[in-house]
Amino acid sequence: MINIGVLASGRGSNFQSIIDSIDRGGLAAKAACLITDNPEAYAIERAKRHNIPHVYINPAAFKSKALFYQRIADELNAFGVELVVLAGFMRVVKRPLIEAFPMRVMNIHPALLPAFKGLHAQRQALEYGVKIAGCTVHFVDEGVDTGPIILQEAVPVLPDDSEDSLSARILECEHRMYPLAIKLYAEGKLKVSGNRVKIATVMPIL
Ligand code: GRF
Repeated sequence: MINIGVLASGRGSNFQSIIDSIDRGGLAAKAACLITDNPEAYAIERAKRHNIPHVYINPAAFKSKALFYQRIADELNAFGVELVVLAGFMRVVKRPLIEAFPMRVMNIHPALLPAFKGLHAQRQALEYGVKIAGCTVHFVDEGVDTGPIILQEAVPVLPDDSEDSLSARILECEHRMYPLAIKLYAEGKLKVSGNRVKIATVMPIL
């Protein structure tokens, strides 16, 4: 059973999918805390509903980004967090947080990385005219939406898609994929080698 700490800035539907998966017994983990940089984040309501401790950390209260991220790392450590889960956290996570949790910070991105990094990935995909979009869960390194890829799934772009309809289709995929990636981590099945993540499979006994 691992403790996870979730960082979210907004709606928190991915946070909810993780909570639901834990509640269903599909994921042997405990949501130890929610940390947010936005006091209005709907994710806070979700935390309250499920009795998950939540902490608002105001980035403007810190003299530097490093101090802000150190504070987040301290808070996560105080909750005994092993794995940090970025779920719509609208900031590029930096040192010293990354250093405090090496290959222990995950992110979900609504595109097939390395395509369409950054904000509005679904809009970028539509504007480019790709026929296949998707989502990616990856470990976080110092870059923006870089770091070893854990899982990816393709989602078709339909001829009449708007940004909203495509985002909704990708989001369904996100809600399945994030709990699965956390489960694989929790079961010790992810081995990072350079930029590649190998997923251990259990071989059936013949
Ligand atoms: C998701 O699309 C996720 O891929 C991206 O930010 C969005 C967060 O949505 N990183 P929610 O707050 O989890 O509903």
